[in-house]
Amino acid sequence: MKLMLIGGGGREHAIIRSLKKNPDVELIYALPGNGGMAQEAECVAIAATDLPAIRAFAATHDIDYAVVAPDDPLVAGCVDMLNELGIPCFGPKKNAAIIEGSKAFAKKLMHKYGIPTAEYAIFTDMDEALSYLDTAPIPTVVKADGLALGKGVIIAQTRDEAKQAVVDMMQNAKFGKSGSTVVIEEFLEGPEVSVLAFTDGKCIKPMVSSMDHKRVGDNDTGLNTGGMGAVAPNPYYTPEIAEQCMREIFLPTIEAMNAEGRPFTGCLYFGLMLTDKGPKVIEYNCRFGDPETQVVLPLLESDLLTIMQSTTDGTLADTEVRFNDGCACCVVTASKGYPEAYQKGLPMAFTPEAKAHTFVAGAKIVNGVLLTNGGRVTGTTAVAPTLREAIDEAYRLADGVQFENAYRRSDIGARALKAII
Ligand code: AMP
Ligand code: GLY
Repeated sequence: MKLMLIGGGGREHAIIRSLKKNPDVELIYALPGNGGMAQEAECVAIAATDLPAIRAFAATHDIDYAVVAPDDPLVAGCVDMLNELGIPCFGPKKNAAIIEGSKAFAKKLMHKYGIPTAEYAIFTDMDEALSYLDTAPIPTVVKADGLALGKGVIIAQTRDEAKQAVVDMMQNAKFGKSGSTVVIEEFLEGPEVSVLAFTDGKCIKPMVSSMDHKRVGDNDTGLNTGGMGAVAPNPYYTPEIAEQCMREIFLPTIEAMNAEGRPFTGCLYFGLMLTDKGPKVIEYNCRFGDPETQVVLPLLESDLLTIMQSTTDGTLADTEVRFNDGCACCVVTASKGYPEAYQKGLPMAFTPEAKAHTFVAGAKIVNGVLLTNGGRVTGTTAVAPTLREAIDEAYRLADGVQFENAYRRSDIGARALKAII
């Protein structure tokens, strides 16, 4: 089979490694992929957001199955476009991807169908948003409605900070059109859990739970990033909570999307907060999360391609989705300075052992040399029977990823360990 994968980060590298375990997979085209995965996939220099170029490529390359991994092409209708060409795809159509593409849509959906989430108000008028903030409980959370590269969420500790966020989004267009509508919501507290789930629109099969580490510094300090590491499973997510989430959140969400005439297929990501009033949805993503995918897929024992195809064919109920009962830890190596200014183009080296366990997020090949090409450069994942062992092994392996000014958090998994001890 010839596959086409849209995207080019660490998540995509993890997806490629899992897909290649299936002997029927002859070739994977990655659009654009990155230099660090060039030995495993044929990278094609087409951006994940360039829908016309993706269409032209797909129409001429006998693609048997496509996987659309990032949010932007999903929200822009990449799956609909490829389906028109007769290519079956993993991922939701445009009318379902809106569950991530518009936070206002997601909030209204949850409200209408009684799915637990933070209290909220939606504004398209800046003055109304500002006067609402005169009396809203503080801290409060201000969110740009649309996609904003994961940066459109401001946790405001004061009224002034919240108002500034509203002005930045609605008047100064800090996130472009994404901020012309804002959602202001109740600040929730509790452990966060990521649950990625396969769904064919009828049945939903959650993957092993995970925990992201969004802040750049140790002890969850400093700026928010795309994720500095992850562990799976998430020890806060007990079997009882999993059962409650299935009943109160996962199934109701699938049913709500069907009732709205927007059946969701692919991977639905639930960002959950375990509050003292029960689990609540912080966000939905219409895709695999990153770096969560880099810990979840290495634990998957069933065949990823078969599962993906079953979400497209509507046969997920009859398809095995089985996970290793061990633990995984992924440690991200970033370029010093990230998520602010950082250097690119630094030569990279791996020990053979590190290479086998590392997913590359940001690299390019120039004259045969692998160079860094992003803030987050790699994610190194270890799987072990216990979380403690997985963490130690991931750090030992990550030491074999080398480039100048490489930076890693030193405490990935520490918060999860505290929950166990
Ligand atoms: P999001 O982009 O929606 O995932 O938000 C980014 C991060 O902001 C989340 O992972 C949470 O840590 C935090 N966050 C978002 N919404 C809330 C909320 N209502 N209460 C507390 N923290 C939140
Ligand atoms: N790790 C969060 C995300 O993928 O959006």
